[in-house]
Amino acid sequence: MGFENLDEQHRHLFAILNRLVDLHETASADPLPVLEELVAYSGEHFHAENLVMMKARFPGYGEHAQEHDRFVDRLRSFLSSYRQNREGLTRDMLAYVREWLLTHTQVTDMFYADFIRRSGHSSNT
Ligand SMILES: [Fe+2]
Ligand SMILES: [Fe+2]
Repeated sequence: MGFENLDEQHRHLFAILNRLVDLHETASADPLPVLEELVAYSGEHFHAENLVMMKARFPGYGEHAQEHDRFVDRLRSFLSSYRQNREGLTRDMLAYVREWLLTHTQVTDMFYADFIRRSGHSSNT
């Protein structure tokens, strides 16, 4: 994306997701803490990103923040059903999360990144 702090957060999100996929495939340990970490870190990243967009007065802020909220809601519902009955952590769910993160970081985030670059704002939070 071109902003080191936010790019690093994206890499960290994928690193957590990869650990979760590994645990799911190998069943070597309880994936719950990693699922919790993914939900928590997604929230942190989106919060940081929302601040950057807000400070830069990015016109697409509202819509972008809503996409974040909807994704976090889905993650939270995965998490709560997994907590309740150890269900919902499936190959399909993990594929959905990866697909969403890939599209969001490679397409949607680029809109505000381009806007910030063009308008000369900073991405520092
Ligand atoms: Fe992002
Ligand atoms: Fe985003």
